[in-house]
Amino acid sequence: MGKLHASLFGERSDVEFIGVTDIDLDRCRQLCDSYGGKPFTDVKEMVQAGAEIVFVTVPNTKHKPIILDGLREGALVFSEKPFVTSLKDADEIMTELGGRKDRLYLGFNRRFAPVYAKAKDYINQGFEVHSGNIIMNDGDMLTPPWVVNTEMTGGFLYDTTIHMFDMVRYLVGEVAEVRCIAQQCRYPLQDNFSIVFTTNKGQSVVMSTNGHASWAWPSERIQLWGDHATIVTEELDRVTHCGSRQSTLDATDVKNLERNRKWGYAQMHEDFLGAVKAKRPFSITADDAYRSVLITEACYESAQAGGKTIQI
Ligand SMILES: NC(=O)c1ccc[n+]([C@@H]2O[C@H](COP(=O)([O-])OP(=O)(O)OC[C@H]3O[C@@H](n4cnc5c(N)ncnc54)[C@H](O)[C@@H]3O)[C@@H](O)[C@H]2O)c1
Repeated sequence: MGKLHASLFGERSDVEFIGVTDIDLDRCRQLCDSYGGKPFTDVKEMVQAGAEIVFVTVPNTKHKPIILDGLREGALVFSEKPFVTSLKDADEIMTELGGRKDRLYLGFNRRFAPVYAKAKDYINQGFEVHSGNIIMNDGDMLTPPWVVNTEMTGGFLYDTTIHMFDMVRYLVGEVAEVRCIAQQCRYPLQDNFSIVFTTNKGQSVVMSTNGHASWAWPSERIQLWGDHATIVTEELDRVTHCGSRQSTLDATDVKNLERNRKWGYAQMHEDFLGAVKAKRPFSITADDAYRSVLITEACYESAQAGGKTIQI
């Protein structure tokens, strides 16, 4: 992800890429050789050298100290998902932010991916979501190899699945309670989850998410149902809509779009850097990041208690 973000800076005339810090010095140098900038020892040194924004792209459980270093040195921080991997760490960062909504941005890129942006448009235009069904699977948990290591990821749900927790909030509504059942199937951690979400408006969403699905398509899909109406997304490739009493389907296919736009990374940079330049609050705030951690922890708590309903 560090390379991906660095490649996007190179496409902009209003961003100067200052450099990188990485515990692996070879990777650090390789990135500088490819994208410019220079190696730094740590984030503090980077900010003292003039960096105004820090992008945090280390493994999940390593985010917290780097986010805090960036904030305490006075930089703005873009953090890859997940924000952090415990409520205790989330609270510590929220305290540091003191309610500010213009200092930390969370990389929930799917909000900007055309299929999900289009689904959001249908909802904004009046599609009333009653219920939904979501799949978010990993083909395997071997890429990168630390994905099976809970000490690095914080657990399976903190890795890719957390994007879909944000999507439930973004497309359906604020999650009020969860019920979750989990199993350990193919890896040395819980890698298979069935979850039911209820929103504060009473809508229900069912999610299946596992880390041993193979690469059979689709590994990612959202189906939303309204008043005799449906929205279906398939991967980040295609969204289909059938409106109420509509006899035809609207389909948008972006399969051949360049990856950084299909996945929403380029649009997310435009949104984030646009807000920085305009000094306006971020569209994805620490509150969104915090809610995603709350949902994740509630799922684990529910699974631990055999599927008990957990209020959020
Ligand atoms: N939004 C998305 O689509 C998306 C996709 C993949 C990964 N991610 C997230 O991006 C982050 C990075 O994932 P990745 O796949 O790029 O991982 P990666 O293993 O490819 O890269 C992580 C880098 O961090 C370095 N590193 C590890 N610990 C460090 C530390 N304490 N200080 C400094 N450097 C350290 C490693 O040497 C490595 O170069 C994760 O949080 C992951 O969840 C997001």
